[in-house]
Formats: sequence, C-alpha cells, structure tokens
Amino acid sequence: MATVRSAAQGILADDNTETREQIIEMLKKAYWMEIETVMSYITNSINPDGVRAQEIVESLQQDIQEELGHAQRFAQRIKELYGVVPGSTDFEAEQTFLQPPDEQTDIVHVIKGVIEAEAGGIEHYNRIIEACDGVDWATQDMVIEILRDEEGHLRAFERFRREFE
Ligand SMILES: [Fe+2]
Ligand SMILES: [Fe+2]
Repeated sequence: MATVRSAAQGILADDNTETREQIIEMLKKAYWMEIETVMSYITNSINPDGVRAQEIVESLQQDIQEELGHAQRFAQRIKELYGVVPGSTDFEAEQTFLQPPDEQTDIVHVIKGVIEAEAGGIEHYNRIIEACDGVDWATQDMVIEILRDEEGHLRAFERFRREFE
C-alpha cells in the first residue's frame, strides 16, 4: 500500500515548518508592497501635469504591469509553501511618500517617492533572499530575479532625479 508522503528535503519538509512560516510572512509583506506600488504608480502616472512629466509618466505606466506581475509571483509562491494569500481587508497602506503632491507639476516629489518605494523593496527582498539561504532555493531564486527588476527601477529613477534637480 502506498503511503502518503511529503517532501523530505527543502522548504516543504516537515522539519522546516517554522522557517517556512517565517518565509511566508515575509512573502505576504512583499505581496502587499507590490500591491501598494501598483496603486501608487497608477496614481502617479495619471496625476502629473506638464511636458517635463511625460517621461516619468510613461516609465511608471510600464512599471505598473511589471509590479503587478511581481505581486502575482509572490502570491503564487505563498500558495506553493502551503500558505494562504491574504484578503484585501488585511491591507495596510505605508507609502506616505507617494501621495499626490500639492502641485501636480511637482514631478521631483514623484521621482523621490518612487526611489523611496524601490529602495524599500530592495531592502525587504534582500532580507528574504538571506532568510531563504540554504533552505528555500526556489523562493530565493524568484526573489533574486524580482530584486534585479527593482534595482533596475531604482537606477532609472536615480537618473531621472539627476536630470530634474
Ligand atoms: Fe516590484
Ligand atoms: Fe519596482
């Protein structure tokens, strides 16, 4: 008779339940960060006025899809780790720095807010990558890829800041 078994090694192993739950909590935070970034980038890709804002607006429009894809990947990985993707009432907003500026021509405010959001993501994703080391290679691999996207976003907006200030 065949016995029901689970993975004996890696993050799905029973021995790693505690670590797995810690990683799931970090992935939930990452998921919410991406969701809030999608909201903030929609807002800031539509509000700005002026010709100078055009390049920023177009860049954010592209990033919305990418950040949404990140949110979906984090959600998928939560599920794969025996977790449950949280419902919307668990959401708590944190991006005070990406609220609409007083003047919609204030594009530097938007650029600085985006840099703040990307830097926050980079810090959290580095923590996840470290937490996965030696125990959850697949999550680590996924988050390394996403980290690279965020580093690309950060660099793009650092270049915008230099140009606009
Ligand atoms: Fe992202
Ligand atoms: Fe990003």
